[in-house]
Formats: sequence, C-alpha cells, structure tokens
Amino acid sequence: MSARFTMLVCLGLAVVRGGASLRHPLDNGLARTPPTGWNSWNHFGCDVSAQLIKETADAIVASGMRDAGYRYVVIDDCWQVARDRSGRIVADSARFPGGMKPLADYVHSKGLKFGLYTDAGRQTCQGRPGTYGFEELDARTYAEWGVDYVKEDWCHADGLDAPTQYGKFRDALAKAGRPIVFSICEWGSNHPWTWGPRTGNLWRTTGDIGDYWASMISRVDLSSQYALAAGPGGWNDPDMLEVGNAGMTDDEYRAHFSLWATMAAPLMAGNDVRTMSPATRDILINKEVIAVDQDPLGVQGMLVEEPGPDLQIWVKPLADSARAVVLLNRSALQTVITAPWWALHIRGPARVRDLWAHADLGTFTDHFSATVAAHGVVMVRITRP
Ligand code: GLA
Repeated sequence: MSARFTMLVCLGLAVVRGGASLRHPLDNGLARTPPTGWNSWNHFGCDVSAQLIKETADAIVASGMRDAGYRYVVIDDCWQVARDRSGRIVADSARFPGGMKPLADYVHSKGLKFGLYTDAGRQTCQGRPGTYGFEELDARTYAEWGVDYVKEDWCHADGLDAPTQYGKFRDALAKAGRPIVFSICEWGSNHPWTWGPRTGNLWRTTGDIGDYWASMISRVDLSSQYALAAGPGGWNDPDMLEVGNAGMTDDEYRAHFSLWATMAAPLMAGNDVRTMSPATRDILINKEVIAVDQDPLGVQGMLVEEPGPDLQIWVKPLADSARAVVLLNRSALQTVITAPWWALHIRGPARVRDLWAHADLGTFTDHFSATVAAHGVVMVRITRP
C-alpha cells in the first residue's frame, strides 16, 4: 500500500502540475475546485417548481450553506415539457410560470448560480425532450436564460457515441457566450475518466446513488479507481449527496460527506434544505471538511492502508503540504483505527486536528489512533511543523 501511495501521490502531483499537457482538461476556466451546490433529484424527483427553487435558494442563504461555499442551484429532470415550432425547449408553464429567466434572476439575486438538466439523447430519463439534434439551440437558450451549469444525462441515447455527443454539447456551450459548467452524466458507462477531462468539468463515474450505506460506499469503491483523472477544471463525480434524506444515520452521513470531500468530489446537496435538522445542517456546513474538498491543489485522495478487515485509511494531500486523513470503519462494530505515519508519508512529530470535533488534538510522534463509530469516520488534518 505504501509504495502504491507514493507512486499515486507523485503521479497525482505530476498530473496536477503538468495540467493541460497530461490531463488535457477542458479549458473553460470553470470548476477549478469541485462544484458545490444543490440539485433537486435525490429528494424531489419530478416534483420540481419555481416555488421550490426559490424557497431552496432562500434556505441555502438562511442556513449558512451559501456562506459555507455552496453555489449552484440545479433543477434536475422534469422541468421541460416540449419544444415549440422553432424547436426551442419549453418549460412546464404550470410549475414554472414566467419561465426560467425570472427564476435564474431570482437565484442570482441571492448570490447563487443557476443550473438545469438535459439529456444527450432523444429524451431525458423521465421522457422529456432531449438535446440530441438541438445542441446549439439549447446551449444558446440556456445562455439567454442565465444558466450557469448544465447536467447532461444519457438516457434514450441508443446507438450514439458518448464522447462525440458530449463533445458536441461542449462545443455548443463554448459558443453560447456565457460561462457554463458542464456536468457529464453517463454513469461511468463509456469510460468517461478517459475523455471527460477534455469534455466536461465533471463526469459521473457510477450509476445512481441510493440513500443507504451499501450504495454510498460502493460509489466510493468505484470512483476511487479513477483518482488520477481528477484535477482543477475536471472532477470524478460519484453522484450527488444523500445527506439529510433520512436513509442513513448521522454517523453514516458524516462518513459520506468526509469521503466525498477526500475524493475531491462535487458537493451537491440533495436534501430538503428548507426543513433540515440541525444535525444535517452541521454536516453540510462543516467548513473544515468543505475546505478539504475545495483545496486548491486539487488532488483526489486515495485509499492507502487497510489495517484490518473493513477498516481503511484514506489520504488527500493538501496545498500547504498538510494531509487530510479519514479513518473509515466500514464494519458494524465500533473499533479503534491506527494510522501509522509511514502509511501517510509523514516523518517526525506532526499536529493533528479533528475536523468533526473542531479540536486540536495535540502533537503525535509516529502514529494517530482513534475510536471510530460503526459505519463512521474520524477525519483529521495532519500538519508537520
Ligand atoms: C438519471 C441520472 C440521475 C437523475 C435522473 C433523472 O438516472 O443519473 O442523476 O438525473 O436520471 O431522471
């Protein structure tokens, strides 16, 4: 594990420093750190409306989420119903009276950015009109409406080539005259970690997340395999957050959030932020964990050691040469996990800060141990003096 870690970190740093030459990232200047925000799908499915989006934007401000760094408010599937005679996409006028432009203006007035969903195929996953054949018109329409982020799905795309179709929409967005983050969502089915970096700002590496432990953790196991594809401008996307949707315990949600941050994953909340509990809010606005996700070095953290069955140590190197470390207990029993300095490539005494307790734990000589809850994490930042 140790040799693998050295190799991966060195490679990761080389890739980041090499920037365009090695990863060929999309050069649209956006998503230099992983995108953050909220998306309607995980909690609301098709039940979207202008009212919901306005109340959500208000709640993102009132809850402190905006100040903690959340930016994009994204309406997922089902906002669109048809195309008009000129081919222009039409929003559901009952749910979005006045259309999307005034809604985008409202979201912008709150200091947030606005996003929409479409599909690279002929229809969206819920059977609404897709973008196939309308790439340029849709990109122009979104730009006119004030859209800042587009997620493009991959349903009803039989016989189409993913790199070609997503490349078409990338080019259409580039011509649309507005900076728009491009989120590729083909569930990892066409090796997007190979062509995603030159095509979009983030690409899904997995199928849809469910609000339960086994689903969340299996997204970690998949997305972590492609760590070297990630970096400023382009990120692996293990899917949106389920924090606060009630299917997991708070320990499990803390693990979910910590692992997403360690993997430099997009942090798109997927709960009802209007009614969330204080515990959910405290998870989502943990600025110390968000800072790990948003660290400017932009290296996706990796699994470096498995000290026992179902026990793992994950490490993310940070710009100031500190390391974020997650002790992950995948077992159903509380246990002690020890992270030896050799596994973290640290020599000599180092300071440890607990990012969930918000407490400095002191200076440790050659290892750090902590009791970790079942299906839980302890997440620390380790700094050499
Ligand atoms: C797919 C995507 C989801 C969501 C739904 C909407 O399943 O992977 O994230 O956008 O479609 O229909």
